[in-house]
Formats: sequence, structure tokens, C-alpha cells
Amino acid sequence: MTIASSKPQTRQPLLEVENYSVAFRTPRGLARVVDEVSFTLEQGKTLGIVGESGSGKSVLNRSIMGLISSDRQIEEGSALFDGQQLVGQDRQPYWGRRIGMIFQDPMTSLNPVMKVGRQIFEPLKLHRNMTGQTAKDRAIELLTKVGIPEPERRLNDYPHQLSGGQRQRVMIAVALAGEPELLIADEPTTALDVTVQKQILDLLSELQQDTGMSMVLITHDLGVARGRTDDVLVMYGGRVMESAPTETLFDRMRHPYSEALMLSIPRLDQPKHTRLTPISGAPPDPIAPPPGCRFSPRCRYTQADCLESLPAAVDNVNEPARHSWACFHPVGTDDGDAALAANLAAGQTVTGLAIRPSGEPS
Ligand SMILES: Nc1ncnc2c1ncn2[C@@H]1O[C@H](COP(=O)(O)OP(=O)(O)O)[C@@H](O)[C@H]1O
Ligand code: SF4
Ligand SMILES: [Mg+2]
Repeated sequence: MTIASSKPQTRQPLLEVENYSVAFRTPRGLARVVDEVSFTLEQGKTLGIVGESGSGKSVLNRSIMGLISSDRQIEEGSALFDGQQLVGQDRQPYWGRRIGMIFQDPMTSLNPVMKVGRQIFEPLKLHRNMTGQTAKDRAIELLTKVGIPEPERRLNDYPHQLSGGQRQRVMIAVALAGEPELLIADEPTTALDVTVQKQILDLLSELQQDTGMSMVLITHDLGVARGRTDDVLVMYGGRVMESAPTETLFDRMRHPYSEALMLSIPRLDQPKHTRLTPISGAPPDPIAPPPGCRFSPRCRYTQADCLESLPAAVDNVNEPARHSWACFHPVGTDDGDAALAANLAAGQTVTGLAIRPSGEPS
């Protein structure tokens, strides 16, 4: 038995998001948390969405899935799933069967007072019409697939009887039970230690190869996206800073924020004690973002024009396909090199950010 999707494969993108924005009404005013985001996810591919905590990654995906109630948010733009508009529609019919979701904390999606078995049987019954021994066999198959030892015995366990890594695996089994075409994984390994993290990410890749499902992998860690995604979207302050095929992004990063994220994580190709450069300062306040480029207060390349208008994401005709970035002085261009050199010479940027060469503490 396989858990491959029985739905006909169409050639159109599975998810096409265009100028998608989400704002919340707050006592202090309107918070624009997701701002004109566009991306395309092709069938069977994995899109990484990367950015520091507070970038709007979770709200973007939860809102597209319809997990945020419409009276709490203002949603604009377009999100087509398999050609069907999600914005303005009830998305519950998609849950579980066409779109599955896993989160950082399995305890928020597993029911603590329900046995593991029942939590898997429910989506099997609801989305796949399976009951009785057929459902039990499939549940055991799913638990085996996600690497749970003694799966038959585990069916009678409650979530608290399992380790953190096992709970994460059970949550993945529950999400896969409906055989979704799209799996949205929101920081699925953040709470786990490095070894288990790798196992879970490997598992997701394997399952994806088996089933052909598409995946959105959300992470604050650019290193996690590397090698596990086909395309990457770098988000900051609710906006897309850079997007590219993963290899292209790591090959020729153009956005200062992508570069800053890269410099802030340990890299395998660096000696163990290479100094990391944390990104100083904090993400923008979505209610009162800085004028011009959202990253200008923290950017090492900032020039006066960055404070005047918002850079739009543009495709560069001289670059490989689908690489775009929203920056006036891109990394690795003559213009960007000159901007950084001028700021380094001055020891600071126009926003007053003190800067030194990367690798030295700022
Ligand atoms: N219900 C809400 N009302 C107002 N602001 C919210 C709400 N939910 C999230 N936010 C804000 O949206 C921003 C993005 O949050 P989130 O999507 O969780 O970021 P990420 O997942 O990238 O860490 C944060 O500034 C957060 O405070
Ligand atoms: S150089 Fe300017 S436009 Fe580019 S990221 Fe920095 S502040 Fe933004
Ligand atoms: Mg999040």
C-alpha cells in the first residue's frame, strides 16, 4: 500500500500567491504583518520561507490556510490553490485532505487526552473513509513510515508518554493521514536537538519523495533551508526581501538581509570558532515601520535613498531565472560594494548604525 495522492496531477502551480497582505486591528492601530507577498509553489517542490522571528512567516501561512478568523484580520490579494481562489473563501474543506500542517510544538496540535491511535484514525476516517482494521493497518503503516518503534503498542499511548521527537513524528503521521497534496511545516524542528532535527527533516524529504506532495518549510534558520528546499523566500518585516532557487540564493545572495542572516548562522564550511555576526537591532514594528526600506535601520549598506522609498522586488535580467530582490544597493554588485565601502569608511550608516567588517563584533 502506498500513500501516494490519488488526485490527478495538473501542471499548473499548486500554490500561487500574489500581492498577499494581512493586517490586524490592534489598540495601537493597524499592524501590517504581511505586506504584498508573492510566490509560486510548483507541484512536488519544496519552498523554504526564511526570516527572523517576527517576520510574518507564520501569519502568512496560517492566514492562507484560513486558520485566522476573518473578524480579526484584513486579508488582501490572491492565493490560488490548484487554481482555486482561497481568499474570501471558507478553507476548512481543504484542511487535512488537501493541505496538511505541522507546527513547532506538537502539543498544540496533538490532543493530550486522546490516544495516539485515535488521533490518526480520525483523519483516516474523515478524509480517506477508512475504518476498522483497514484504518488500524494504515495507522501502523504511517507510524512505521515516520520511524516510530513498536507502532502497534504506541497506538494505545497518550502523547505525554512519548519523547519530544516521537511526538513530532506522530504529529507528522497525523498530518499525512489525509494524504495532503501540500504540507506546510512551520518550524517543525525548532524545539528539537540537532540530531532529532536532522532525522525529522530527512524523514520529511523521504515522505515527499514517496508521495510527491509539495511542501512549504518555514524556518528562521537559513542553514536548515539549504539543501532541503528547491526555492527560498527570504522575509523581513512582512515583506519578501529576496527569492530565488535555493542554489542560486546561496551562490549569489543579493539582499543585505539575506547576507546578514547567513552571517548570523554557523556554517559547515567555516572553521569551528569563526565568529558569527548577529544582526544587531530588532525587526520593525508592524504598526509604525521605518520609512523607506524596512531593513534600513539595521542594514550595513544603507544609503540616503533607502529611507525615501520602499524598494520593489524586481527580477534581474542578468541573473538566472526567478531570482529577485528588493534592494537599491544589492550585495555583490558595484553599487552595493561602493555603498558598503563608504559606510565602513565612515564607521556607520546614515541611520546611525555603527558597522565594522563582518566577523568583527559591531
Ligand atoms: N493576532 C495578532 N494581532 C496582532 N499582531 C499579530 C498577531 N499575530 C501575530 N502578530 C504579529 O505579527 C508579526 C509576525 O508574526 P509571525 O508571523 O508569528 O512571525 P514569524 O512566524 O516570522 O516569527 C509579529 O510582529 C507578531 O507580533
Ligand atoms: S541597501 Fe538600502 S534598500 Fe538595500 S536592504 Fe539596505 S536599506 Fe534596504
Ligand atoms: Mg512563526
